[in-house]
Amino acid sequence: MSNVIVIGTQWGDEGKGKVVDVLAEKAHVVARFQGGNNAGHTMVVHGETFISHLIPSGILHPDKLCMIGNGVVVDPRVLIQEITDLRERGISVGPHNLLVSENAHLIMPYHKLVDHGREKLKGDKKLGTTGRGIGPCYEDKVTRRGIRFCDLIDRKTFEEKLSLIVPEKNFYLRDFLKYDTVDQESIFEEYLPYAETLRSHVTNVSLALRQAVKAGDHVLFEGAQGTHLDIDHGTYPFVTSSNTVAGNACCGAGIGPTQIHSVIGMVKAYTTRVGRGPFPTELHDDIGDRLQERGAEFGATTGRRRRCGWLDAVVVRNAARLNSLTGIAITKLDVLSGLKTLKICTAYEYQGDRLPEFPSGSGVLEACQPIYEDLPGWSEDITAVKDDGGLPANARAYLRRLEELVETPIHIISVGPGRDETIMLKDPFDTP
Ligand code: IMP
Repeated sequence: MSNVIVIGTQWGDEGKGKVVDVLAEKAHVVARFQGGNNAGHTMVVHGETFISHLIPSGILHPDKLCMIGNGVVVDPRVLIQEITDLRERGISVGPHNLLVSENAHLIMPYHKLVDHGREKLKGDKKLGTTGRGIGPCYEDKVTRRGIRFCDLIDRKTFEEKLSLIVPEKNFYLRDFLKYDTVDQESIFEEYLPYAETLRSHVTNVSLALRQAVKAGDHVLFEGAQGTHLDIDHGTYPFVTSSNTVAGNACCGAGIGPTQIHSVIGMVKAYTTRVGRGPFPTELHDDIGDRLQERGAEFGATTGRRRRCGWLDAVVVRNAARLNSLTGIAITKLDVLSGLKTLKICTAYEYQGDRLPEFPSGSGVLEACQPIYEDLPGWSEDITAVKDDGGLPANARAYLRRLEELVETPIHIISVGPGRDETIMLKDPFDTP
């Protein structure tokens, strides 16, 4: 038995979906522990593209058990839609392969309205959220006004909770945000069938995990977003509302840290970001456009164009520390093919000083300039390469330099979107 966490090291969209899908082959259980349908994981299987927002990527493997942990915020409408879509594409989904924590919080219609209304009110100063109601839902969780799956499946409790919260939300929506309001009865009517559809999936996920671990199963914990969108450790306030770091896999799924054996950090071979916030290596030139086009850098959730830039080793080193990474999975290396010179940011310049580490606290990163190291590129198409040795020497040198700068070994190299376009140097489940 070994348990592996996969998290993003940058600002999300590192290609976790594909790597989780590849690793799911070796796992028995795949569990999500934070975020909600602000995430979008794209997987390409036999040329067919699947995008999942809530259901763990492992669902594409027929014999895997997928779990949505207590730390996830779930829009039940989206969850049911995903289940329906998967079934329509011939994938079996039921309580035998998808469990949802009874303690996971529900995204309600008023959460989405608050998210939109706030962004509208902020105008130019908006955060650029995904508009899925994620922040407002976590907010209610922390202020103990949230509605959980255990409440939804109990008609009386659900009605009581709804009648307490809706007047308050409407007051805020109407009088403060000057935005649309909600109708309690319509929410009740909409959500009751959700309870019936999802009831059989709702359970104590922590207990189910314990049983799996006891049985010797491999568990894969699938993170969403990235380390620098973490509510505590990210570029606050331009962050998401959950802890995206590996430590939260334990809280968000209901398992203790002694049960974790390895932590894989996903690194895109360059950097992208959606939404607002500082991004030192961002490119506003032809190379940025090229990365955007060749990397098809559009958000899987909102379709927004992702901002693109060079690989920032300061960012990845910060993530290596925050997550205690045991290995790196690098993705989209193929997108760099054809660039004559590649740049890696190794430190920042801030007010004339050299900053070797990622600054915490607000305002500093905005004023940082990247200090780059140039490396020679390669022109070969690498998508068919099956082992490390088959990569061009300059590609290998680029990877070795990243390993040195981040002091973490690369275990997985992704050279294309398909499952088979993956070079596995070390199996993360293969722990001593
Ligand atoms: P929220 O998570 O919708 O509240 O959005 C907060 C910030 O996190 C915004 O900048 C979003 O663009 C960003 N964000 C949320 N989810 C993802 C993701 O899966 N990938 C990349 N950025 C994300």
